[in-house]
Amino acid sequence: MARILVGVTGGIAAYKACTLVRLLVRAPHDVYPIVTEAAARFVAPETFFALARTTPRRDAYPHLERADLLVVAPLTANTLARLAHGLADDVLTEAALAHDGPVVVAPAMNVRMWQHAATQANAEILRQRGVVFVGPAEGELAEGEVGPGRMAEPEEIAEVVARELAGASPRASSSLAGRRVLVSAGGTREQLDAVRFLGNRSSGSMGVAVAEEARRRGAEVTLLAANLAVPVPTGVTVVETPTAADIEREALARADADVVIMAAAVADYRPAAPETAKRAKDGSSWTVELTPTTDVLAALGANRTDRQVLVGFAAESAGNGLERAREKKVAKSADLIVFNDIGRSDIGFDTAENEVVLVSNGAEQHIAKAPKRRIAAAVLDEVERIMATR
Ligand SMILES: Cc1cc2nc3c(=O)[nH]c(=O)nc-3n(C[C@H](O)[C@H](O)[C@H](O)COP(=O)(O)O)c2cc1C
Repeated sequence: MARILVGVTGGIAAYKACTLVRLLVRAPHDVYPIVTEAAARFVAPETFFALARTTPRRDAYPHLERADLLVVAPLTANTLARLAHGLADDVLTEAALAHDGPVVVAPAMNVRMWQHAATQANAEILRQRGVVFVGPAEGELAEGEVGPGRMAEPEEIAEVVARELAGASPRASSSLAGRRVLVSAGGTREQLDAVRFLGNRSSGSMGVAVAEEARRRGAEVTLLAANLAVPVPTGVTVVETPTAADIEREALARADADVVIMAAAVADYRPAAPETAKRAKDGSSWTVELTPTTDVLAALGANRTDRQVLVGFAAESAGNGLERAREKKVAKSADLIVFNDIGRSDIGFDTAENEVVLVSNGAEQHIAKAPKRRIAAAVLDEVERIMATR
């Protein structure tokens, strides 16, 4: 399974891109549509997201979505020109500039537009750069003229995509092939009464990025999801674990995974005696006794095998957090602790970016502030490095 960006631009053939998205999803691939404003006049973007079984990214960097391949179908004369000249004036062209893998395009336009010297020169620039063209096919065009300009059939485009993926860097999609990876993400909620809970600010975006990246590298991924505020990634098995007790039970049941990455913010304490009904407001104070929850990372560390790679996250907000992360690594028998300073407002909880220190066996690596996808890639690079030493 590969991650594919499908760009859809503004021509009549946009409706055929629906079939392309379906074929790629069925392959199966993890598809993320990027629909230009002009294309949205022909087919509503929601259609593509529904067919791709995903939702639009709401963070600040939708154009930095990492993918194994970018396919643009249909490709208008306008976007062809923008790609050739490196313009970046919408999410699709920004994503194209940020993408460093194979690019497949299926032009579709009026025959005179296609044959115009400007369009031909632009197409040549893209070909020189290694962009793969499918079509345009000859035939009757939507406006009644005949000639080259029709978009290639979705089946043919899907075949070219498959061929390009097969020839692409194997590392991107298979370095964790055959490995079972367990990831926890989000923040637990501990019941106070029938409607209230004690929670935390974790959105789950960091753990979800790790799960997505592991899947992108070919792993069989199970995600323990604690009240995620971000969409669940496609292609991973999701187990809902809203409370610390749920995470404990489901993580220990899967403790034989090859890689375990505990990124969720799990409550350290839960109300000792949660009320079953909603506590009525009566003006008096309410004292709640909190009791410690099980330390899931320590429990996993106590039961781990030598072959397993065990990773914990340490979110510290004050003082010698890094020192505490080092101690945590030893105390929990973990191979790697990802330390992040949640005292800062620009990184960590509820933000699109993070900056971490990877505290590993004998080595510490500072990963500068970057989108969480990049941080996830750095974490998994380190996991793979540790695996290679086993
Ligand atoms: C009804 C209609 C059909 C169109 N079909 C095409 C087409 O097939 N190919 C093309 O290059 N432009 C076509 N256009 C023009 C594009 O929509 C226009 O150039 C737009 O700016 C492209 O924006 P985009 O690059 O975001 O797709 C069409 C316009 C209209 C109104």
